[in-house]
Amino acid sequence: VVSNATLQRFYQEVRHQTLRLTENLSVEDMVVQSMPEASPAKWHLAHTTWFFEEFILRERDKNYPRFDERYRYLFNSYYEAAGDRYPRPDRGLLTRPDLSTVLRYRAYVDSCMEVLIAAGMHDDISQEHEFFRDIIVTGLHHEMQHQELLLTDILHLLSFNPLFPSLYRAETPASPRAGALTMQTCGGGLVPVGAREEGFSYDCEKPCHSVFLQAYRLARRAVTNGEWLEFIDDGGYRNPLLWLADGWETCQRNNWQTPLYWRQVDGQWHQFGLDGLQALNFAAPVCHISYYEADAYARWAGKRLPTEQEWEHALANAPVEGNFLEFPYWRPQACTTDTAENGIAQAYGDVWEWTRSPYTAYPGFKPERGPLQEYNGKFMANQFVLKGGSCVTPKRQMRATYRNFFFPHQRWQFSGLRLAEDA
Ligand SMILES: [Fe+2]
Repeated sequence: VVSNATLQRFYQEVRHQTLRLTENLSVEDMVVQSMPEASPAKWHLAHTTWFFEEFILRERDKNYPRFDERYRYLFNSYYEAAGDRYPRPDRGLLTRPDLSTVLRYRAYVDSCMEVLIAAGMHDDISQEHEFFRDIIVTGLHHEMQHQELLLTDILHLLSFNPLFPSLYRAETPASPRAGALTMQTCGGGLVPVGAREEGFSYDCEKPCHSVFLQAYRLARRAVTNGEWLEFIDDGGYRNPLLWLADGWETCQRNNWQTPLYWRQVDGQWHQFGLDGLQALNFAAPVCHISYYEADAYARWAGKRLPTEQEWEHALANAPVEGNFLEFPYWRPQACTTDTAENGIAQAYGDVWEWTRSPYTAYPGFKPERGPLQEYNGKFMANQFVLKGGSCVTPKRQMRATYRNFFFPHQRWQFSGLRLAEDA
């Protein structure tokens, strides 16, 4: 149970953090949409606000005066139960409402929400208040997911610009060489997987249940750019025997030859990031690869991707520490841990790690009750689970049980890989 004061502070911190991420964006940056899956920053600002208006303010009080009735249609993302919505691929055509109006919309909803949190929820919590309080917390975690998406979508947009714009100036630390890749043996057996009831988690992480794991080995750090270059030089992108059939077809059709955002300048490899075009850091984890590429690399390396249960079991008791959104580098950094001494390193932050597990319902899964029943469950087809968070994931939302999911061809997220093998 969260107190009013804690919730109020949480609300303000998250809402403020979203605005802070847009500080170095121009108005033009915030309107354009680079592909159907990516949304303009302005749309993210409005949609996260719509979430509180639609699912809290409007649900609690049918007479709540919306900032603008038409936003219900404009900024609904995918909630069938919330009515019709503006087509996703066309979000970049919404030059109106303009940015200043969207910012006023945020301020309006914030003032309504703060009144509600401060005055509307007394200490003798009724069941109804408890219910809405849970949705507010979910709304804040939802907004943190959009903070990450806002940055990944902006990176994709800026990558089309030959001027290689940067959002901030990087003082990238001197990069150590990555230590040799070694594997840690993990005992199998009957192990718990999934979130328990205490603390926040999404419905798709529950219930906690038992799975049987064969003993396995997990790499002590993520695969690096330098190692990926060996895969490229060995013809990894040209050898169909390394690839899943769907993956090879996708690789051919899109003419993939490197991870997304790699560029060769004067014969040297560079990587575009939120800090502009930088020389490729060979010791940093490879990033912006699809599931298909991760899978092909693992086969080339004589290993495989871990399952989500193996990943979660190995990290169940590890502290959630790493290069996250709150740290100064919005680019994956080289692993500095002596992995031989410290077991599994770099699991949190830097890059999301593809697993070989399809995103499906756990035994006993129940969708969230109420208006958020569409949040996760309806996406449980044809996607794969990623674990651990990236350099643009808010630290506060990360935990061992967190299940991110994307389609196997997608590469614009900060996605990399960690190897595994049978013991
Ligand atoms: Fe959303």
